[in-house]
Amino acid sequence: MTKRILILPGDYIGPEIMAEAEKVLRRVNQQYDLELALEHGLIGGAALDVHGVPLPEETLAAARSADAILLGAVGGPKWDGVERELRPERGLLAIRSQLQLFGNLRPAILYPQLVEASSLKPEVVSGLDILIVRELTGGIYFGEPRGIRTLENGERQGYNTYVYSESEIERIAHLAFDLAGKRDGRVCSVDKSNVLEATVLWREVLERIAPQYPDVELSHMYVDNAAMQLVRAPKQFDVIVTGNMFGDILSDAAAMLTGSIGMLPSASLDREGRGMYEPCHGSAPDIAGGGKANPLATILSVAMMLRYTLAAPSAADAIEGAVSAVLDQGLRTADIHSEGTTLVDTVAMGD
Ligand code: NAI
Ligand code: MG
Repeated sequence: MTKRILILPGDYIGPEIMAEAEKVLRRVNQQYDLELALEHGLIGGAALDVHGVPLPEETLAAARSADAILLGAVGGPKWDGVERELRPERGLLAIRSQLQLFGNLRPAILYPQLVEASSLKPEVVSGLDILIVRELTGGIYFGEPRGIRTLENGERQGYNTYVYSESEIERIAHLAFDLAGKRDGRVCSVDKSNVLEATVLWREVLERIAPQYPDVELSHMYVDNAAMQLVRAPKQFDVIVTGNMFGDILSDAAAMLTGSIGMLPSASLDREGRGMYEPCHGSAPDIAGGGKANPLATILSVAMMLRYTLAAPSAADAIEGAVSAVLDQGLRTADIHSEGTTLVDTVAMGD
């Protein structure tokens, strides 16, 4: 049966990296008889220029009916003057919440060939392979009430609300346990249950679900300690599961352990395992148009898409193997280039 893939290149380096990812996707599609039909759409600034909104109805409709979405990156200085509600990044937030993409997977893998790119000592990070599972559509980023109000004494006060319902916690917990079962079998749940009641419930729900996964071991950590442990001894983790805000911060910290933002893929999944796949980086306006962008984060996002939504693990393995082989050959885009390696441009890396 044909599966539909919606490709949303986005802005600045978005189209450059997407051209390379698409090349790889077309190749595996042919080689593994995947019967994928590729479609293209507009999002972010590119959509704003044509339709006046960052997420046009036709893009949303195509996204809803696609089996998976591959996204480049959105935003950039061209749209700096645009009002808040219409900013390119709003298109991303809207598609995530409209499709209920609640499960954000952010792997932090350090390729042995790039061990010198990490800010930490080789012995602390070599062989690092952790997966952060971040809840993406709830928590304090979406909680109501929110805003800035004026108190009786005339002073202004900013406020947001940290909320999680049991069903929201349950679905992200199941996702994390499932994934851990296919990896090293360990889930570390990160909360702040010594201070925040909302995360007392989080911990309780995780404990309640854990017995359904007898092969997975559950542990808990406070978020401040987790931040410390990520830079002290990151290899102690397998899967980390946490709420939206903690996950935002911890996943960026974990990303930097691997040294290059140009290497990091991500997935955002819904309840049926459909999802949107995208590199962790932004649209990099500072290097756009120069063939300097590293396409590997987007290419590795294609591999995640094949593994998690399209049930084509051997095609995913082939792509990840090819990335490793290319690094073995010493080929590097500028962001990961070092002495003794060969500098190549975006297209050559894709090739
Ligand atoms: P950025 O991730 O675009 O760039 C940060 C730095 O990393 C820059 O020096 C850039 O050149 C470099 N970089 C990023 N991706 C690279 C790649 N593939 N290869 C080589 N170098 C790479 O973050 P920044 O500068 O904060 O944001 C730029 C724009 O992107 C803004 O408009 C921002 O809102 C947007 N953005 C979009 C995201 C998305 O679409 N998911 C995520 C983050 C930012
Ligand atoms: Mg972030």
